[in-house]
Amino acid sequence: MIVTEKAAGISGMLHPGKRQTPPAWLIVAISSIALLLLPFIFKLDGKPHADWQQFVGRFHPLAVHLPIGLIVLVPLLEIAGRQRPALREAAAFVLALACAACFGTLALGYLLAYGSGDTGATVTRHMWGGIALTIILLLCLCTRPAWSAGVATRTYPALLVCVMLALLWTAHQGGSLTHGSTYLTEFMPAPMKRVVALASIGASVPHPDSFYAQHIHPVFDSHCVGCHGAAKSQGGLRLDSYDALMRGGKSGPAIVPRNPDKSLLLMRVTLPSTDKHFMPAEGRPPLKPEEIAWLRAWIQQDASATATHLAGITLPESRDEPPPQPVSDYSALMNDIRQMQQAQGAKLAFVSSKPSDGLVLNTVDAAPTFDDAQLAQFQRFAPYIVEANLARTAITDASFDTLGKFSPLRALHLEGTAITGSNLARLATLTQLPYLNLSETRVTSTAVASLKSLPNLRHIYLFDTPAQPASTPDAAQSSVQSTSRSAQ
Ligand code: HEC
Repeated sequence: MIVTEKAAGISGMLHPGKRQTPPAWLIVAISSIALLLLPFIFKLDGKPHADWQQFVGRFHPLAVHLPIGLIVLVPLLEIAGRQRPALREAAAFVLALACAACFGTLALGYLLAYGSGDTGATVTRHMWGGIALTIILLLCLCTRPAWSAGVATRTYPALLVCVMLALLWTAHQGGSLTHGSTYLTEFMPAPMKRVVALASIGASVPHPDSFYAQHIHPVFDSHCVGCHGAAKSQGGLRLDSYDALMRGGKSGPAIVPRNPDKSLLLMRVTLPSTDKHFMPAEGRPPLKPEEIAWLRAWIQQDASATATHLAGITLPESRDEPPPQPVSDYSALMNDIRQMQQAQGAKLAFVSSKPSDGLVLNTVDAAPTFDDAQLAQFQRFAPYIVEANLARTAITDASFDTLGKFSPLRALHLEGTAITGSNLARLATLTQLPYLNLSETRVTSTAVASLKSLPNLRHIYLFDTPAQPASTPDAAQSSVQSTSRSAQ
């Protein structure tokens, strides 16, 4: 097929010519190498980076529609151009625009993943898909002039087909990231679903009355899905569905049915809580001993999606913790909260969009410099703070006076601080507090005894303290003092 383009091109890259051809290939080669090296230079290390990166990056899901639209237009224009040559010229222009749009979108997407610390198999596939797509598109740009001059007439059309396939695949990965991998199939008509189910390995829907649905899934839901779900799949692992759980993560299967000791997931939740591989990560409250026992028994008995009872597990009669008390509405302080968020390294996060769910005080990014004086500045938000993460901060015993005023607290992390607990009794006002972590401090058993009066305190962690030295390898396990006070 011989088509001659008469119009002057928008850039030298679009048209064959003695002068332009070498630079075009050179530019494509250099940009491709740069794209391929990008993930190795700025590694997606799973850690969040600068806020501005996330701010800018979050425009990626919006911006991505531009290159998609442009790319789809290219083959349409080429085909229609058989009848109307002017459209062929337009195709060259649209192709160049699509390339530019791909670079822009790729940059935004990379900022999003890098800035937010997102990792996981889907993120990786989506990223490489985007990179491959951009490179193939660049190759289209290079091979098109030859094609339109009637030389090498197969290469460009073949590359266009590759572009479309890469686009479909990358878009699907991106869709799975934002909507979850079952988004497309969830409301599929049953006959179609069966066809798809045949294609996907071992897809099985857990029975709603199964032990999995009743007891295993809720554990993951409350402890893990924040990092292993649709929004983020750390370690390539999702725990928000039975299938995803059984599929495992980047290290392979997380569950080996009938073999708890070989199941990575169980290993990770039973490590000492100070191990860097311990799950849940980042100092989140560990699983309760009975939850670990359920997991172990469930895996031992085939990790079934349907079994309703497990041998050896008798479930306590509804030992549910009382529903959390709503806190007062913080809406009036919204400006102050926002100001505080900007002024301090420590952050006040909203538990949910409902003001009555309260605030979380998070010092992770500012821990080494966060001291008693800084904590005192948060005192006026005390009526709204339900969780305070002060682990590894510079606070001392002097802060217990302040902390005593945080009456709605339901979780208090003080692990790894310099406290000795001499005035731990000041916490007597925290009548709602069920969870207190004092691991790796100098707290003594005498000091801990002063907490006896706290009516709701069920979990005190004392790993590696004078109250409970880290002598045995099992110390983390035994440090869980589940003091059930239902009998009192
Ligand atoms: C605060 C975030 C966070 C929470 C909460 C969390 N994880 Fe993780 N998890 C990670 C990160 C980050 C990785 C990857 C790094 C690593 O392997 O340690 C990971 C990796 C894993 C892996 C290894 C996956 C693989 O194939 O390499 C398992 C298993 C796991 N987590 C289980 C759990 C379980 C079970 C829970 C809940 C009890 C949980 N995680 C809660 C952040 C978290």
